Amino acid sequence: MQTRTIDGNAIARELRAGILTRAATLTAGGVQPGLAVIRVGSHPASSVYVRNKIAACGEAGIHSRDIHLSETADEAALLDQIRALNDDASIHGILVQLPLPRGFSPERVLEAVSPLKDVDGFHPMNAGLLAVGHPRFVPCTPLGIMKLLEHEGVNPEGRHAVVVGRSNIVGKPIALLLLQKGATVTICNSRTPDLRSITRQAEILVVAAGKPKLITGAMLSPGAIVIDVGINRLADGKLAGDVDFSSVLGTAARVTPVPGGVGPMTIAMLLENTVASAERALASGRTRT
Ligand code: GUN
Repeated sequence: MQTRTIDGNAIARELRAGILTRAATLTAGGVQPGLAVIRVGSHPASSVYVRNKIAACGEAGIHSRDIHLSETADEAALLDQIRALNDDASIHGILVQLPLPRGFSPERVLEAVSPLKDVDGFHPMNAGLLAVGHPRFVPCTPLGIMKLLEHEGVNPEGRHAVVVGRSNIVGKPIALLLLQKGATVTICNSRTPDLRSITRQAEILVVAAGKPKLITGAMLSPGAIVIDVGINRLADGKLAGDVDFSSVLGTAARVTPVPGGVGPMTIAMLLENTVASAERALASGRTRT
């Protein structure tokens, strides 16, 4: 079987063009969408992610605020910062970059973000809305995966989808989204016994386990659509996904590469959620403090 690589960069570029137009319309109407990104300390990967997010905002016509608290800042200072942004009508999205340094409670911090500005979709209220089938903000990576599938003309209805990973950021929300589209969903993780017997049943396989090259071609059923969410830095400095890319060629029908698959979609969906938030703020009159 000829395996086709799904070009996340190209799909994200297309979606970003539409987002730029919507941001321009909002700005012309007096409400430029605004995103605040908060980072605490100096986690090396986080600084790269945040830089990419801020640059993407600029290209999409979204104004951004890059807030960096030092490693020695305490949780109270972070909560004060979040509360000020909750009350700032020029900001429509607030993102606290994870992981937070030791000593911070991610639960307390994420719950402090207004659920109406929670563009990451991590607030328990937004997680709950997704679980009951009335999503408001959907986490960016799972939302990006659904857009990729849609763009590829893959309808999950009636398909067996297998998710490897159980995080709040990817595994749980992508399972819910696939379920809502009518897929039969099995959720496993890297410790599932005989993982291969389950992944071999997958027509759609989403892998978000954080284990480099966990999935090989022998673990797939021929014709599977494979979505690789992993971003792992190997000892030689190279990036690898959770899927052993070269080994699935010839068995998978389609596969997302790392880099250039899911990653660019995640950023595009952050822009999407920020613009959608500004549109909702305008529609409900929440544009002045
Ligand atoms: N760290 C790794 N992925 C993410 C994400 O999607 N959002 C935030 N806020 N932090 C992250």
